[in-house]
Amino acid sequence: MKIEPFGVEEWMNAYEEKARINVAETCVESLTVGELLDLSGGRESFLDDFFSRKLTYGEIPGSFDLRAHISRLYDTQDEGNLLLAHGGIGANFLALYTLVEPGDRVVVVKPTYQQLYSVPRGFGADVRILSLRPENAFLPDLDELERLAGDRCRLIVLNNPNNPTGALMDGAFLKEVARIAERSGAWLLCDEVYRGLEHDPLEKTPSVVDLYEKAVATGSLSKVFSLAGLRLGWVAGPRDFIRECFSRRDYTTISCGMIDEMLAMRAFSHREKIRERNLSLVRRNASILDGWVNGEQGLSYVRPRAGTTAFIRYDFPVPSEDFCKSLFDFNGAFIVPGRAFDFEGWFRLGYSCATETLEEGLAAISDYIRTL
Ligand SMILES: Cc1ncc(COP(=O)(O)O)c(C=O)c1O
Repeated sequence: MKIEPFGVEEWMNAYEEKARINVAETCVESLTVGELLDLSGGRESFLDDFFSRKLTYGEIPGSFDLRAHISRLYDTQDEGNLLLAHGGIGANFLALYTLVEPGDRVVVVKPTYQQLYSVPRGFGADVRILSLRPENAFLPDLDELERLAGDRCRLIVLNNPNNPTGALMDGAFLKEVARIAERSGAWLLCDEVYRGLEHDPLEKTPSVVDLYEKAVATGSLSKVFSLAGLRLGWVAGPRDFIRECFSRRDYTTISCGMIDEMLAMRAFSHREKIRERNLSLVRRNASILDGWVNGEQGLSYVRPRAGTTAFIRYDFPVPSEDFCKSLFDFNGAFIVPGRAFDFEGWFRLGYSCATETLEEGLAAISDYIRTL
């Protein structure tokens, strides 16, 4: 299998550790182990359990209780519809590995997380890109989707809420996508690792698995729960499909690690507290970001409706990698060039870090822009 280099990951790997002000991150400001335990019933009880654990493989598909907790994120799923994976990235890979054969027609939105189109391409699929455009608020054009899917599409791949744009498809929109998938006989895979981070309290992102029979959703503890260090994600979908995933996963994963699962259990059993912390951070920072973009000559964007990132257009005659690299050299502020998403003249900014970091990062970008 030939695979394209993963643009964003290569960029992050090259600079992230040396960044002075990191406003490229996609997680809501990560929790420490201590913060997680303090938020979720204290340290003592956890330590008792921790020290007495025998370090076996644990339950192979992921602990029953943890899968039961995760299933409550959906209206129609139970623990049998869930399989744990190594992060959202492992969940996406497993779903694609299970669904895609060489020659299959696969329609994928773009810009998005590159894994979602480069992996099916690597598997030899006929990948058709559904371009998300700013003039459509970065939502898919449904006529174009119908045309690309045709009458024999294997899989339609979405990312909702979207990284990098923060665009959000609501329930009515997703039902239209599901109707197109059904007419074409296609599976619908939606990467939902940012689901639950809506800016408008009246908005809620439904999961595709609650809307369509042949739908698969992936999720993760990294972004919404601020626990990327646990490396825990999951695939949700019909039981037969989950069995298919399981037989492939036997060759790569065995289980996900019981210490990670123990900490994940703590997070899920106090989910509301983490949710409140994260939603208030994301909403506060999104509004600071909005004020900054609107006040900064030469920048514009489609205001994100959910998630942790914004995709920002700049009006300076500099290629995006040079723009981001010179910013980094100038004052150590770190963002991601649009080129990593094949969008020149744009950059991705992660605004869900600590508010002070965001403010410092925005001021640093402003200082740099004055030099152009
Ligand atoms: C859309 C999307 N999916 C999946 C991932 C992978 O996340 P993780 O493996 O940490 O859950 C990311 C990370 O940036 C992402 O943005």
